[in-house]
Order: sequence, then structure tokens, then C-alpha cells
Amino acid sequence: MRIAFLGKGGSGKTTTAAGFARYLADRFPFVLALDADVNAHFKTALGLSGDPVHLEGHFDEVIEYLRGKRADLGERPMLATTPPALDSNFIAVSPADELLRRYALVDGSLALLTVGQYKQADMGGSCYHTKLFGLAAILHHMLDGETDFVVADTTAGTDNLATSLWFAYDMNVFVVEPTAKSVSVYRDFIGVSPELAEKTYVVGNKVEGEEDEEFIRESVAEGRYLGSVPLSRHLKRFEQGREGALEEFRKEQQAPFQAVLEALCSRKRDWPAYLNRLRDAHGKVCRDWFNDFHGIALDADLDPEFSYEAAVAARQSPVLSPTAAGSSPAAATTGTDAGENETSCASQADAPDSLIVTTGEAPAVETALAANIPTSSQQQEAHASEPATATANDGAADSIKS
Ligand SMILES: Nc1ncnc2c1ncn2[C@@H]1O[C@H](COP(=O)(O)OP(=O)(O)O)[C@@H](O)[C@H]1O
Ligand SMILES: [Mg+2]
Repeated sequence: MRIAFLGKGGSGKTTTAAGFARYLADRFPFVLALDADVNAHFKTALGLSGDPVHLEGHFDEVIEYLRGKRADLGERPMLATTPPALDSNFIAVSPADELLRRYALVDGSLALLTVGQYKQADMGGSCYHTKLFGLAAILHHMLDGETDFVVADTTAGTDNLATSLWFAYDMNVFVVEPTAKSVSVYRDFIGVSPELAEKTYVVGNKVEGEEDEEFIRESVAEGRYLGSVPLSRHLKRFEQGREGALEEFRKEQQAPFQAVLEALCSRKRDWPAYLNRLRDAHGKVCRDWFNDFHGIALDADLDPEFSYEAAVAARQSPVLSPTAAGSSPAAATTGTDAGENETSCASQADAPDSLIVTTGEAPAVETALAANIPTSSQQQEAHASEPATATANDGAADSIKS
């Protein structure tokens, strides 16, 4: 399941997304964090060290990798909205996944993929949405099951709506400060479409007292308020260098995070609807721009047999070979759920006697949910070789300008 954190600049998206990714990584075998913000600070907030690969410099390779052995495209270029084929390469949320091994920064049960930062050369000349297109291609090829968690730190406000990313996440969490401006950014966002409003929840942040919390609660759509994190002196102390203060801050985040996890577990991916949206998005950018630009129909004759369910069943990701699946608890629980694992995140929350994870030392999800105990941590699309395409695509695919 994929969850994106959004909000006005400075509201606490990165802080909250990082806290939630850590919260999950303490409870589940493996969590994939995505730094989809062009001001990439997620790594620091996650407490990871090392140099992350910036995917923006590798989109050609990524697209070629995802293309896999598919024959339906022939010589035609693949765009980020090109729906997969059964012979595409897919991505599993697992440390053994080939693409993650190449590009992710991995630390125990947490991995981070970083899209990229502004460079001097980008300023004014290029729209950063092109960087998000590679991320969209990755998400459209990801076979994550209900207990494979992906947590994205995103650009501020409504920028995500400009790409096919808008439907790539199962749930959005808007981080809202107790200010009129912060609330208005949230309202603008959910006002865009009922589908977005339906999957967008709110966590208040930097709240000082009951009045602040009430202000946020009253501003949020019915049933979508999940709690608030206080304006934390512990976070400040931590940022001033006092290591131990982070634990205190985490305690302050715990109740809202439990509510976020429960909401996430209550959601269900509708793969056929996802594929329909992807096909629609692809058809639109092709008709609007790419078919003319390339002089060939990029949306015609694509694998008609493809469905995500079939891809899951066929275990097309390289990581899902029997050897890899048998060798690690994380791999064994990854990407296969829809086909053969009847347990689900939601059913775990409801059914305390069953386990999602049944191999190795992996934790019982419902136990983690109920008791808040740490478990496993102790254990469009740019065809980047064609700059003109990427630039043109900004215009074609963006409904909201950068
Ligand atoms: N609950 C909180 N209490 C105190 N400071 C916070 C809290 N959440 C975030 N901050 C601070 O607010 C600033 C902006 O947070 P950040 O997560 O970077 O926002 P965004 O990603 O939305 O731009 C940072 O200095 C961060 O430490
Ligand atoms: Mg940020």
C-alpha cells in the first residue's frame, strides 16, 4: 500500500512522513520510503546516512529495466504512463528487488529511493515535473501487496496532480498546521476531485493546545481527521543535537500514526480501476502530444492480456523467484499477496488471532497495531534520452503548471 504525505511548504511533511516510515519499519519487515520532493531532505529526516542515488540521472536505465522483455511496444519508446505488459519487469517492495538493490539506500527494514534535486541547470529552464515522471513509471510497475508499505514525501501542495501520480497512491495524508493558509491548501487539494477527497486524510501538526486541534478538526472533511502532533520541544532539542529527544518526539507522534495505519489498512487497492486510469492517462498524453511528436501511435496495440492481478500471479518481478522468496522473510511476504495470500492488512487489524507474516521471526501485524510495540526493526513520462520529449511532455501532461 502506498501512502503520500502532502501539505503546504514547511507544514511538516518530511518530518511526518519520516516519522511514519520509521513507525512502520519498527512494525513490519520492510518499508520503502520515496523522496519525491525536489528538495530532497527525506534521507536526513529518516536518519539514514550514505549517498543516495538520484534517480533523475538514471531514468533511461530505469525505463529500460521496466520495459523488460515486452514485445508489444516494438521499437516504440516507453513513457511513464505506458501501461505495463505481462513481460515487463516489475518492482517488489523487498530488499531483494533488483531495482531497489540498484538504486535504493537500504538500512535494515527501511529503504529509500530518491527522485532528485534541483540543479543549477534546472532553474528556470526545466520543469521538475519531469523528475516525477520516472517515479510514476516506477509506481505503475510496482506489485505491492497490502502489507508492503511505501511512504512518499512529496512536493508541496497540489503539484502532484500534474502527473499520473495522482492515482498512484492508495492514501494521501495532508499535514496541516493550525493556520488558515495551511487549511486552505488542503481544501484546494480535496476540491479538485471527489476521488482525491475520498482518499485524503489529515494529520494536524505543530498544534499547541485544544483550540488549535479544534481549529484543524473543524476544517477537515467528515471522517478524515486522524489526530495531531504537538509543536514539539523534543524535536527542537533533537535538532539541536540531543539524540535521546527523538524518542520523546516519536511518542508524541504515536497516536496519530496508529490512526494513519488503521486508515491505511482499511483501504483496498482496486487494480482494474488503477489500470483503467493508467490507460486513460496514457491515451490522453499520446493523443494530445506524443503520437504526433513521434509520428507513431504509442498507445496502440499494447498487451491486451495485461492485468496487474495476472502480473502478481505470474510473479514477474525477478525477486519473486522461489529461491529469493524462500530465503528471506521480507521477500517471502512481498508482492505476492493478491494471488495467494488471503490475509490482508485490513483483516489483520480486525482479526487478532491471525498473522499476516507467517515466516521467520516476522511480527504479527495485529499485535503491533494493538500494542504499539516495535517488532521487526530489531530485526510522463520523460524518455530521458530525448530532452525535447521531456520538455514537451510537461506541457502535454500537466494540468497544473509548475
Ligand atoms: N511537530 C513539530 N514540532 C516542532 N517542529 C516541527 C514539527 N514538525 C515539523 N517541525 C519543524 O518544522 C520545519 C519544517 O518541517 P518539514 O518537515 O521540513 O516541512 P515540509 O517538509 O512540509 O517542508 C522543520 O524545521 C521541522 O523540524
Ligand atoms: Mg519537505
